[in-house]
Amino acid sequence: MTTSKQDILLIGVGVMGQGIAQVAAQAGHRVFLFDTFEGAAVKAREKIATTFTKLVEKAKLTQQDADATLARLLPIQTLAEGKTALLAIEAVVERLDVKHSLFQQLEDLLPEGAILATNTSSISVTAIGAGLKRPERLVGMHFFNPAPLMKLVEVVHGLRTDKAIAAEVEQLARAWGKTPVHARSTPGFIVNRIARPYYAEALMLLQEQALAPEALDAVLRAAGFRMGPCELMDLIGLDTNYAVTKTVFEANFYDRRFTPSLVQRELVEAGQFGRKNGRGFYVYPEGAPALAPCPVAPPAAGSTVVVHGSGTVADALAVAAKGFTVSRVPTSNWVGLQLGSLQLRQTDGRSAWQIARAEGLAQLAVFDELPTVAGGAIAFATTGAASAAHAAGVLQALGWQPVPMQDAPGLVVARTLAMLVNEAADAVQQGVCTPDGADAAMKLGVNYPAGPFEWLQRLGRSRVIGLIEALDACYRGERYRISPWLQRAGAA
Ligand code: NAI
Repeated sequence: MTTSKQDILLIGVGVMGQGIAQVAAQAGHRVFLFDTFEGAAVKAREKIATTFTKLVEKAKLTQQDADATLARLLPIQTLAEGKTALLAIEAVVERLDVKHSLFQQLEDLLPEGAILATNTSSISVTAIGAGLKRPERLVGMHFFNPAPLMKLVEVVHGLRTDKAIAAEVEQLARAWGKTPVHARSTPGFIVNRIARPYYAEALMLLQEQALAPEALDAVLRAAGFRMGPCELMDLIGLDTNYAVTKTVFEANFYDRRFTPSLVQRELVEAGQFGRKNGRGFYVYPEGAPALAPCPVAPPAAGSTVVVHGSGTVADALAVAAKGFTVSRVPTSNWVGLQLGSLQLRQTDGRSAWQIARAEGLAQLAVFDELPTVAGGAIAFATTGAASAAHAAGVLQALGWQPVPMQDAPGLVVARTLAMLVNEAADAVQQGVCTPDGADAAMKLGVNYPAGPFEWLQRLGRSRVIGLIEALDACYRGERYRISPWLQRAGAA
């Protein structure tokens, strides 16, 4: 059993190693710090000391606790000086050969009962463990950046990882104030896999010239995401994000669902990595430009609005339409509004022209998921004959900021949420994690406003399936295949 009395050996004290060392020392462990780069371990301790000074100044930490914690951080010159540790956590360079040979050394050095943990973000834990004498003692302990602040730890099981070892690491992470979630060692584990569509759908829309990056960001922020996909990719680094996407794609034997984007590749080829070098989707320090003004023709005062359909969205539309004379047709098989001859329908996945053609409608606009943020941006698209300014006028009168876009299936938020749900469902189907684990991981690891299974609950399974079916009908191919788990969830 690993308790706070036991020593920890932390190998590789860069960005992540430093954060993990701080967490472990604050939980009461003595932590040996080792790094092959000369002076890095001492420097890491100094950096933690600087962080503590700031925390003490802000009265978030007492001087006494800061001193006691620092006294538990022990830079060492050789791995052998850490040989009493019963837990080793590595956060060295992301290379299989380096990690593998490190664990081989550690097996010979540490007591037989020691746990070996890797903070790898993308390498298979099974592959790292292959050829070790005791692969059952190797487990992934995947922290998120910055480790002292982010609550999530993915406890990653390789094929040979002993369940008892994983359980011990889970308990330890909990004792450190983290929320551990179990994951099978599959490409991207939980977070880096389920999050792929957040970037991929945005990049698809950009490639189609459907709307500008700042417009994409605005509508996804209005859906509750802390950052839109483009500003987030700029923050993460387009090179890093592209590398992760490529790794997940390759590791899944080039499953087209994970196909990287030409748009992103071109930015990387141009050396536009994002914030870190001043230019990505946006130019820094200015960042995203203001949204282009959208022509708006407000509806005539006292207009009558008919709210079609039933359910929470129809109810929300009726409430938002308080400035109009409202009547309702709950029996309609679509959800939205009608003003005179203009219909505004919530997207069911089909593009505006598909619906207009199928139903012989002349004036049609489709709009996205309703914003969860008051006054938030909402994407809409119109058929050629419908006036975009009139549709924008109605959406604005309902209290939202209309954002026109090219007519694309599932618009922005609806298709993104549907694909996040679908990916999460597939992860559960393949035993990577549980639905609760996926929800916790996405909320705590990448700050999503809700978990994918919470969205599934909100949107409803048939809506999610309908959205993906419509995407598949438009694009054809493997990208928009519906997870068997989602199909089966209905049968159950
Ligand atoms: P980093 O480059 O900041 O730090 C790596 C450190 O390891 C360096 O100080 C380097 O000198 C040292 N090192 C390299 N080879 C070594 C060896 N054989 N023995 C001892 N020390 C060695 O890298 P970072 O970002 O901290 O990443 C470390 C690991 O954490 C990687 O596996 C990465 O995939 C993973 N990770 C990174 C996250 C991030 O946001 N940066 C998030 C979660 C995991």
